[in-house]
Amino acid sequence: MKKHQHQTQYAGIAGKTVIVTGAAAGIGFCLSKAFAEQGAQVFMIDFNQDALNEALQALQDYTVQGYAANVTDDEAVSAAFEACKNSFGFVDVLFNNAGISLNKPSLDITMPEWRRCVDINLTSLFLCSQQAAKQMQQQGGGVIINTASIWGLSTSAERTAYCTTKAGVVSMTKCLAAEWGELGIRVLAIGPGYTRTALVEKLQQQNTLDVADLERRTPLGRLAEPEEIAELALFLASDAAKFMTGQTYLIDGGWEANGFQ
Ligand SMILES: NC(=O)c1ccc[n+]([C@@H]2O[C@H](COP(=O)([O-])OP(=O)(O)OC[C@H]3O[C@@H](n4cnc5c(N)ncnc54)[C@H](O)[C@@H]3O)[C@@H](O)[C@H]2O)c1
Repeated sequence: MKKHQHQTQYAGIAGKTVIVTGAAAGIGFCLSKAFAEQGAQVFMIDFNQDALNEALQALQDYTVQGYAANVTDDEAVSAAFEACKNSFGFVDVLFNNAGISLNKPSLDITMPEWRRCVDINLTSLFLCSQQAAKQMQQQGGGVIINTASIWGLSTSAERTAYCTTKAGVVSMTKCLAAEWGELGIRVLAIGPGYTRTALVEKLQQQNTLDVADLERRTPLGRLAEPEEIAELALFLASDAAKFMTGQTYLIDGGWEANGFQ
């Protein structure tokens, strides 16, 4: 398939300060690159220092800064937002993207595994959103975009932790949009289908993910490219979407519409 090219220059992105969590790899890296290419200054948070260094190296031609922090740690999150403010000014766009999967029979999930999944996939989004909204309130608005998943709107056996945390993201998106609309803050979520990241390719090579089966179930017959997720993110963050808030937008090649087969 031909590599996805971003369509256009999106109004209202150049010059903005964008924070991306889980920015060192996968969808988060691609989002960071897409916003940087549009002329935004991008503050990239990730707890994997080595991956972050590699990502910064790849984006050295752009205005980006890396920050190593675990987004489940409230003091580290608060320090990261302060550091971003000192480098780039108040945050205009927050991308809550860090997340992990947990596919396991519910009877076997340990409490540390459950808590880690809830902390990373749900609590960290609240922490970062609260920090961002404090700055956005002072500057009269901003945009918060959460990475949910097709699994935020679908359910299955052996995915209780992932599905319920991602459904929580869908609900948090609505709650915060309802509350912060009067502050000029839009809150949205993106629900990607299976996306061809390095991690997905590794799982495919190890035969722990049956990509051919996923493609068969998807009406458009393939996985998403991370650049396609970034395209939706650019649109939602731009002035073109300035009446959009509170909703989760799936980008899944029709996977959810098709249900399970
Ligand atoms: N790849 C997919 O098929 C897919 C589909 C739907 C939704 N998603 C969601 O998209 C998001 C990104 O997924 P991905 O596939 O790009 O993942 P990935 O594992 O490739 O990248 C995630 C990044 O987040 C970082 N990270 C994880 N926990 C962190 C924490 N506590 N603090 C700071 N950084 C942390 C990791 O170090 C990594 O760099 C996740 O929320 C995931 O649930 C992914």
